[in-house]
Amino acid sequence: MSINIRCATTDDLLSIQHCNLQCLPENYQMKYYLYHALSWPQLSYVAEDEKGKIVGYVLAKMEEDCEDNPHGHITSLAVKRSHRRLGIAQKLMNQASRAMVECFDAKYVSLHVRRSNRAALNLYTSSLQFEVSEVEPKYYADGEDAYSMKRDLSSFYTEKNAAKEKTNKDGNTHIHTGRCCDRS
Ligand SMILES: CC(C)(COP(=O)(O)OP(=O)(O)OC[C@H]1O[C@@H](n2cnc3c(N)ncnc32)[C@H](O)[C@@H]1OP(=O)(O)O)[C@@H](O)C(=O)NCCC(=O)NCCS
Repeated sequence: MSINIRCATTDDLLSIQHCNLQCLPENYQMKYYLYHALSWPQLSYVAEDEKGKIVGYVLAKMEEDCEDNPHGHITSLAVKRSHRRLGIAQKLMNQASRAMVECFDAKYVSLHVRRSNRAALNLYTSSLQFEVSEVEPKYYADGEDAYSMKRDLSSFYTEKNAAKEKTNKDGNTHIHTGRCCDRS
């Protein structure tokens, strides 16, 4: 099965919303998706199958009130049932995190997850080095508690610095790892 991970565009928003409705009880109005896509076009990603059908997404943003400690936030993540356990969520999350570092110098990324969401908790702790920072009681509309989690993004700086060094060494080499400069 060939899966392509790419930056989300405004053309993807209906498919992202559809995937969200199929996978999660937390749903959003189209204007909230649009707000992400227009404010941080570099940070949200989709996974598409061979036919270009969206099978997963990560919706991400930067927190706006903390210029001295820039950090990103994962608003929503989902992969369709038919395409789970293929490493898609892990790739989507890493792409969004890398772009937060590349484009906004993010120091860490945060998210909320339901206490009962074993699959997501396992993904965040075992595969993505997130740690629980606090429990937020009754965070969700149905009264369930959330874990507030954070992932330190310093490992992505090693990657970013290596790319910078290579650019300096090679003179004109430019390595695109996020979507920092392809909006022309
Ligand atoms: C959580 C979710 C996004 C994971 O997507 P995915 O593409 O299947 O995850 P990956 O294949 O990248 O999984 C990577 C690792 O996460 C863990 N993991 C993923 N699904 C798991 C499950 N059902 N049970 C236990 N661990 C799981 C495993 O450690 C897995 O590695 P492995 O397959 O080598 O064991 C997906 O199950 C989903 O969309 N769930 C519904 C929506 C949701 O809960 N979103 C998160 C809201 S906070």
